[in-house]
Amino acid sequence: MTKTAIITGANKGIGLAVAKRLIQHDYRVVLACRNTEKGLMAEKYLGPSSKFLELDLSDPESIQLFVQKIKSDYSNLDILYNNAGLIYRDFELTTEGYESMMSVNYFGSYRLSLMLLDNLINTSGKIVQISSLSMYLARKLILEDLHTQKSFSPSSRYNLTNLYRSMFALELGNRLVDVPVSVSVAHPGVTKSRQSRPHNVKRIKKSFYTYFSTNIQTGIAPILKAIEETDVSPHHVYAPRIFGFYGKPSTMKHNKIVYNKEFRTSLWSYTAKELNLDL
Ligand SMILES: NC(=O)c1ccc[n+]([C@@H]2O[C@H](COP(=O)([O-])OP(=O)(O)OC[C@H]3O[C@@H](n4cnc5c(N)ncnc54)[C@H](OP(=O)(O)O)[C@@H]3O)[C@@H](O)[C@H]2O)c1
Repeated sequence: MTKTAIITGANKGIGLAVAKRLIQHDYRVVLACRNTEKGLMAEKYLGPSSKFLELDLSDPESIQLFVQKIKSDYSNLDILYNNAGLIYRDFELTTEGYESMMSVNYFGSYRLSLMLLDNLINTSGKIVQISSLSMYLARKLILEDLHTQKSFSPSSRYNLTNLYRSMFALELGNRLVDVPVSVSVAHPGVTKSRQSRPHNVKRIKKSFYTYFSTNIQTGIAPILKAIEETDVSPHHVYAPRIFGFYGKPSTMKHNKIVYNKEFRTSLWSYTAKELNLDL
């Protein structure tokens, strides 16, 4: 039977490449994109097994409308792949008043996963959470001044959102232990899709990416494994085997902060209160 997957941010980069591969494996794929023109272009490129639906993860109304549409048109959902993300953005607030990377990368995944849980339960589905090697650069849990410019830098904030993505996935997996929905986490290493990085990234960092980036097929392989493998666990991350950069997909540990239950509980409580959304 044809499976259904939602991929957020599927109009380019890793999201588009994963969508293409899932369609080759007989999935129908909902392309959840914030920009209509780009979403329709991706739909045209991928063909009739894809369907564009508008979703701006920084806007709660857009998320609400998207979820309503999914609930009316797709009662059975096999995969939710939380892919969309902002990378190294200057400080900017969303209309809701949240810092944009935190809002899209972390709050967006949290909201969508919890709001679509019923659809995933119907099919014993799976939530796949993107994370990043940059999570290892985050040094501590920060829950204060997340939405002010105090101590903000584009790279440290991006690292923190990836730490939170991993912490969220592990905590969600633990909380769903008696529910027929599994959770897995993957990161692509550093892939060539980074062309969309903003220009204010320092030259040295840019050349690092250019030198170490792998092709997109290496980057998406761990994600496809996290989607397709049956016996998955959010206790580890699917990633390229060699130092998390190169080679075939394997699994690696998260940043050790992720395994601290007290920190995960604090993050969950903070988020549930902030977004007024809990399990
Ligand atoms: N590339 C890497 O080396 C790498 C490494 C580690 C982790 N990752 C993670 O992998 C994911 C994909 O990365 P990528 O390299 O493919 O990035 P990308 O090419 O910049 O694609 C990001 C996607 O997210 C979408 N997006 C941004 N804000 C959104 C919002 N408010 N609502 C809905 N969609 C939104 C973008 O839409 P627009 O086209 O409209 O901007 C785009 O489709 C990201 O979450 C990133 O953190 C990437």
